Amino acid sequence: MILVTGGAGFIGSHTCVALAEAQVPFVILDNFSNSRRSVVDRLSRILGFAPEVVEADVRDRAALDAVFARYPINGVIHFAAFKAVGESVREPLAYYDNNVAGTVTLLQAMRAAQVRTLVFSSSATVYGEPASLPIREDFPCSATNPYGWSKLMMEQVLADLDTAEPGQWHIARLRYFNPVGAHASGLIGEDPQGVPGNLLPFVAQVAAGWRDRLAVFGNDYPTPDGTGLRDYIHVTDLAAGHVAALRYLREHPGLLTVNLGTGRPVSVLEMVRAFERASESPVPFDVVARRPGDVARCWADPAKAESLLGWRAELGLDRMCADAWRWQNGVARMLRDMDTQG
Ligand code: NAD
Ligand code: WQD
Repeated sequence: MILVTGGAGFIGSHTCVALAEAQVPFVILDNFSNSRRSVVDRLSRILGFAPEVVEADVRDRAALDAVFARYPINGVIHFAAFKAVGESVREPLAYYDNNVAGTVTLLQAMRAAQVRTLVFSSSATVYGEPASLPIREDFPCSATNPYGWSKLMMEQVLADLDTAEPGQWHIARLRYFNPVGAHASGLIGEDPQGVPGNLLPFVAQVAAGWRDRLAVFGNDYPTPDGTGLRDYIHVTDLAAGHVAALRYLREHPGLLTVNLGTGRPVSVLEMVRAFERASESPVPFDVVARRPGDVARCWADPAKAESLLGWRAELGLDRMCADAWRWQNGVARMLRDMDTQG
């Protein structure tokens, strides 16, 4: 059985669907600090059964020990973390506490329970401004904000653990590029609180009429249309990558580091046009100044994931937008209406 920390969140909930499809039993542990309890009901409708859920915090060692004692867990997928870059600059201690201290507590509990298989959510943010493209796993890493540092620190903790106890751990550090989209049912998806910091949720809210205009952060980058290039990956593809990583880890002790991306760069303006097509709604925008800390270009070389895990992204940009729109214009709209009605 797999313990999925942060399993009620955006990527975690989709990964639970992928685990169930692969007939891997799982238990979710989440403190619902950035997700709604209703995710569990909606997930149940997709799965056809009610998943096991423990409401707890990964920093709570006693709660973790109780979970490991209660369930026959033999591996962990660790999503639970804070992820907002801007907030991490304002509240670094909260990020280091939740992300770094939370991971250390989890690892201590895993070791005590003799569970040594871990799939860890890392991020393309660890590459900073890449010297060349596409980005390979052996490129140098750096960070420009506390969120990025927290991911790099956790990557280091995992590498040190593998060095200290060689051959005993089975660890994957998965570096996600830009996860977008939603489950094809429209029942689960990305549900940001407040003003979305990421492009696709913002675009979706403009198309839905919740926000007036998108601010495009700069059109003077050295890219074909001047806007930033990113590697957007459908969350369903990303979820499948976790199942593939778990399968790989079963046979391979040690430390695995892999990019999960498509290898295909998409500009901000291409994303806007694709979303307009999918939603049949206009997405008006203004070009404004660059956002501090943004890189011009970031996309993956996904070859290592394909050769080692036998995994590659299948779903294209139009499908990402169509699925994100089905979620945005359906359940996300309903949830928002319920919130505003109190
Ligand atoms: P999310 O916020 O939707 O999901 C995280 C889940 O973890 C939420 O349900 C939240 O309630 C829970 N959580 C947070 N702190 C917790 C704690 N201390 N104890 C228990 N539960 C806790 O985020 P997501 O987009 O699904 O991201 C999942 C992981 O992937 C994170 O580690 C994130 O840093 C990483 N990641 C995300 C992206 C992205 O763009 N979404 C990109 C790269 C990496
Ligand atoms: C994409 C492009 C923006 C919003 C961030 C984190 C990274 C990872 C994924 C977790 C850029 C442009 C955006 C807007 C815009 N998260 N943009 N107007 O910056 O690649 O990565 O999320 O690990 O750590 O840094 O993603 O979606 O914020 O931006 O023009 O309102 O869209 O400038 O070119 P980013 P993003």
